[in-house]
Amino acid sequence: MGRVAELAGISVRTLHHYDEIGLVRPSARTAAGYRAYSAHDVERLREVLAYRRLGFGLREVAELVDDPSTDAVAHLRRLRGLLLERRDRADAMVAAIDRELDVRAKGLKVTPEEQLELLGARLYDAIGGAYTATRRTEPRIAAQIWDALGDARTVLNVGAGTGSYEPADREVTAVEPSAVMRGQRPAGSAPCVAAAAESLPFEDGAFDVAMAVSTVHHWADPLAGLREMRRVARRVVVLTFDTDEPGWPDRFWLTRDYLPEFTTVLAGFPSLAGMADAIGARAEPVPVPWDCADGLFEAYWRRPEAYLEEPVRRASSVWTRVGPEAEQRAVRGLGDDLASGRWAERNGDLAGLDAVDLGLRLLTA
Ligand SMILES: C[S@@+](CC[C@H](N)C(=O)[O-])C[C@H]1O[C@@H](n2cnc3c(N)ncnc32)[C@H](O)[C@@H]1O
Repeated sequence: MGRVAELAGISVRTLHHYDEIGLVRPSARTAAGYRAYSAHDVERLREVLAYRRLGFGLREVAELVDDPSTDAVAHLRRLRGLLLERRDRADAMVAAIDRELDVRAKGLKVTPEEQLELLGARLYDAIGGAYTATRRTEPRIAAQIWDALGDARTVLNVGAGTGSYEPADREVTAVEPSAVMRGQRPAGSAPCVAAAAESLPFEDGAFDVAMAVSTVHHWADPLAGLREMRRVARRVVVLTFDTDEPGWPDRFWLTRDYLPEFTTVLAGFPSLAGMADAIGARAEPVPVPWDCADGLFEAYWRRPEAYLEEPVRRASSVWTRVGPEAEQRAVRGLGDDLASGRWAERNGDLAGLDAVDLGLRLLTA
């Protein structure tokens, strides 16, 4: 016990406590018959300590490590995803602090709103400035979304960003937590409230429909956000991503051959079935056209050279979330394969396709 405590950097008392509450029990025996930690116990202790350091309570940690569907690799993936998210948030805070230091150095006053913005700083406050370079309405995807809105007159657009998919012929209210994204909404666009999906500042049934496009995977608690949408609207329309199908990363050559780290970005993201269940929705595929006008991560499946361009990557959060090492390796690999003709050899069949299903799904409830 002393040796394990020393290696793990915790006290023997903590280990005793974990033993008492059944969280990590030493299951092996020494030659003299004393209880000792097996390799499996140490693995469990490592998971417990990592989740604790990420701020989970003891009860939540117990649920996580006892989940029979999660093995050691799945725990590592989930931990990695949580740490990347934390790093993104820290980067956003550093950027906000730098901005405030700059303002103060110039002898200017920082408003209370600006000070609070620092606390709410998010990924999109750090990367949102690059969004509008390639992100705009894709008319075919928009038509599918607007069709799903039915006869709704009042629309709440959650995680609205710059408003790419807001219908012009209905009364829209937008919700967007990032000040940088709110600041990029075109003049004359729908009124936008600074709030997050998980806690919508509206009465029950306040809207005919609540919509959310390419945003659910950014929410701290996707299911809570979806239930909030359900609470404030009669109808819910959500464009999201299907990770239920086994082998889903192989659907797209980019994740299959160059960026397998995409799976870690989505570690912990609820299943499509789970999201559909939470709001009683049905799902339909949203094909990505070969000349997709919105620079989504999947947009350039038939135009691979686009991924070599920095502004294309900066406008899609996946590339920031996988980290610079994975990004550079993927770009190098793709560049080499395009130059050698290997990409074309492997993906020649795509040239004849106009649209493909890359896992985008429209949930309608
Ligand atoms: C990829 S952008 C999509 C924006 C827009 N819906 C579109 O399709 O262009 C994701 C947006 O989700 C927002 N977001 C992040 N966390 C959120 C949360 N908890 N609730 C609502 N929106 C959130 C981000 O600030 C960002 O603007």
